[in-house]
Amino acid sequence: MTYPTPRAAVLTGIGSWLPPDELTNADLEARLDTTDEWIRSRTGIASRRRVSPGMSTSDLAVEAGGRALKSSGQDSVDAVVLATTTPDELCPATAPQVATRLGLPMVPAFDVSAVCAGFLYGLSVAAGLIATGAADRVLLIGAEAFTTLIDPDDRSTAAIFGDGAGAVVLRAGNPDEPGALGPVVLGSDGSRSDLAEVPAGGARRRVPTPEASPYLQMQGREIFRHAVRHMTAACRTATEAAGWQLADVDRLVAHQANIRIITSVADGLGIPPERRASNIERVGNTAGASVPVLLAEENASGGLVAGQRVLLTAFGGGLAWGAATLVWPSLASAQ
Ligand code: UT7
Repeated sequence: MTYPTPRAAVLTGIGSWLPPDELTNADLEARLDTTDEWIRSRTGIASRRRVSPGMSTSDLAVEAGGRALKSSGQDSVDAVVLATTTPDELCPATAPQVATRLGLPMVPAFDVSAVCAGFLYGLSVAAGLIATGAADRVLLIGAEAFTTLIDPDDRSTAAIFGDGAGAVVLRAGNPDEPGALGPVVLGSDGSRSDLAEVPAGGARRRVPTPEASPYLQMQGREIFRHAVRHMTAACRTATEAAGWQLADVDRLVAHQANIRIITSVADGLGIPPERRASNIERVGNTAGASVPVLLAEENASGGLVAGQRVLLTAFGGGLAWGAATLVWPSLASAQ
């Protein structure tokens, strides 16, 4: 039995926003047993942004979402999907509040929770909404106030994570037009959920105890190994599914977890340094916001130009990962 090709999700708007409060390596040096040299050489990070008191994920999402709508040239969509690990409240989802604040009341709006792979999972969800005809236009936002999950005294995580938001608008279109999302490859491995977890605050352990921290506990070295393996494999599968050779890839836009992870993945795929996009030095690891923030910044700076073949990939807690391809379209950059 064959079915007609579903309509594609086509990228038509993009935007990002970082909170103004900056946390430099020098700030961390002043407070923790760490050095600028250690952080730069082990992670590639020099600085990151963080929410200031009173600011939360929805505030970041509204800023980025508004810019993506403006870039798309239209102010309405049929659905809002928010990829986040840090909803404003445990209940309800944050997306409906974001939709309302963006002047999009009454549209379907919900959160997707896949930590650093959240934007890739969100792309798949948005593409599904469009393919089935449930929506003609979807606003997908990756927004994280991830530093709210970080113990400021834990040098192994405080040096890595930052906050921010990136957003895209996807519209119904043809699979062969620029901006059309290729097959999205996703995966997960719940047997290693312990490698990056926030033990307290959820349904199993509502209240923190000496044994159950309310902060992210991460086994960095183990995560590193899995990240390289799964992102490399997902990239191979996604390019193959799109009918591309790896040599066809003009820009690799990988989750900005650690410069050494990005280097290992790109080296393994044979993608040379000049084709690797990166903002980790300035932005740090912003979890589910990482890929859309990088896409928006590259689009604005001319690092991404129309016609380039772009490979996206992400990996993080869950474990969860993903990869996808698209030919970059011509997109306005909204400030
Ligand atoms: O976003 C998706 C999920 N997260 C990731 O993908 C993170 C992946 N992992 C990583 O990025 C790296 O594993 C880290 C950057 C987290 C750590 O780098 P590493 O090279 O794997 O170091 P390590 O965890 O094996 O630690 C080496 C040493 C340890 O000291 P001992 O036990 O050897 O004495 C750490 O205590 O480095 C120490 N260390 C630090 N030293 C100075 C850890 N953090 C710091 C720090 N400053 N900030």
